[in-house]
Amino acid sequence: MGGFETRAIHAGQDPDPATGAVVTPISLATTFAQSAVGEHQGYEYARSGNPTRTALETCIASLEGGTHGLAFASGLAAEDALLRTLHPGDHVVIPNDAYGGTYRLVARVHERHGLTWTSVDLRDIAALEAAWRPETKMVWIETPTNPMLAIVDIAAVAGVAHAHGARVVVDNTFATPYLQQPLDLGADASVHSSTKYLGGHSDVVGGAIVVRDDTFGDELRFLQNAMGAVPSPFDCYLVLRGLKTLAVRMDRHCTNAAAVVDVLTGHPAVARVLYPGLADHPGHDVARRQMANFGGMVSFIAAGGEAAALDLVTKTRIFTLAESLGAVESLIEHPARMTHASVEGSPLAVDPALVRLSVGIETVDDLVADLRNALDASA
Ligand SMILES: Cc1ncc(COP(=O)(O)O)c(C=O)c1O
Repeated sequence: MGGFETRAIHAGQDPDPATGAVVTPISLATTFAQSAVGEHQGYEYARSGNPTRTALETCIASLEGGTHGLAFASGLAAEDALLRTLHPGDHVVIPNDAYGGTYRLVARVHERHGLTWTSVDLRDIAALEAAWRPETKMVWIETPTNPMLAIVDIAAVAGVAHAHGARVVVDNTFATPYLQQPLDLGADASVHSSTKYLGGHSDVVGGAIVVRDDTFGDELRFLQNAMGAVPSPFDCYLVLRGLKTLAVRMDRHCTNAAAVVDVLTGHPAVARVLYPGLADHPGHDVARRQMANFGGMVSFIAAGGEAAALDLVTKTRIFTLAESLGAVESLIEHPARMTHASVEGSPLAVDPALVRLSVGIETVDDLVADLRNALDASA
C-alpha cells in the first residue's frame, strides 16, 4: 500500500462506507445485528471484535510488516497474552535489563502459575546459550532497553532461539516500527506499550502485538477474547490518530535527543551518557544495523550519585518530572525510585544515580537550555 507514512494514515482507514467520513468512526455498539443465526457482517459482540479496533489492528500490523495485529487495554495486557501462550513448566529467558513491569509480570504473576524464567544479558549470545534449557520456549527481548538503552542483536538472538524451536518476542516500545522492524529481523512477535510513542500524546493507555504466523495469531486472538483485556473504542481511536503522525514525531524526537546528548556529554555533572547513537556506546554498531535512527530516549548517570540524580530531576522546567515516555512533551525521571521501583533488590535493579529522559518535540533550543541550566545548578 506504499510507504510507512502512507500506511500509517491509510491502512485499515478507508473512508467510512456508510457516510464517506475520512476519519474512522468511534464505533460504540457492543452488539451487532444478525440477519439469521450466525449471519453477520464480521462483528457479533464488541469484546470479540469492534470496527474501530479492527482499523487500529490493521494499521499497526501493516506498520510492523506483520499479518495479525492485536490491540489490548495496556502494554502489560499485551505482554500477558504472549506469556499465556506458554504452559506450566515452560521456561522463558528475559533480559537482565527491562521494563520493571515486564519483570514483575513474569516473576510475580506467571511464576505462581508454573512458568520458570532466567534473566540474561542478551547482548551476550554465549550467556543465552548457557541459560538454555530443554523447556525454554520463549526469549523476551527489549531493545533499546528501558532504562539502560542497551541494544540487543535481534537477528542473533532469533538465530539461537529458532535453532532450539523457541519463539522470540521483541518489546518494540522504545524504537517503534518506524525505527525498527523486529519481524523482518527474525522475531516472532513485536509487542508495544502503545501508551508511549504510538499514542504519542500521554492521553491513552494501550498495548499491541503483531505477528506473521497464522497459528500464533489465532492463539493470541483466542486469548484476547478469552481474557477480555481489550481497549475501548475511544482508546483505539486515540492510538490510531497517534499513528498518523508517528513518523514525523519520531524524526523530531531523534533530532532533539541528539542535541540533548551533546549537552550531557562532557558536562561535569554527568558521569556517563547512555545513548545508542554515541559511537562509543557498546551497541552502536548493532543499532546502526537494525534501527533507522537512535530514538528519543536518553539516560545518564549523575556524577554526584543518587543524591545528585534526585536533586537534578527537580531542577528542570520544561522536562517534567513524571513517569512514562514517548509523548510530545519532554519528561525526566529517576528510574530506581519511579518506573523501576518494582525491580529493587532483583537481578534487574537499577543504578540509583541513573536519570532517564524522554526527549519530546518542543523547540530544541528550549530543551537544551532547560537541561543545561539544571545541570549547571547541580554541578
Ligand atoms: C518498554 C515497555 N514495555 C511495556 C510497558 C508496559 O506498558 P503499559 O504501561 O502500557 O502497560 C512499558 C511501560 O512503561 C514500557 O516502558
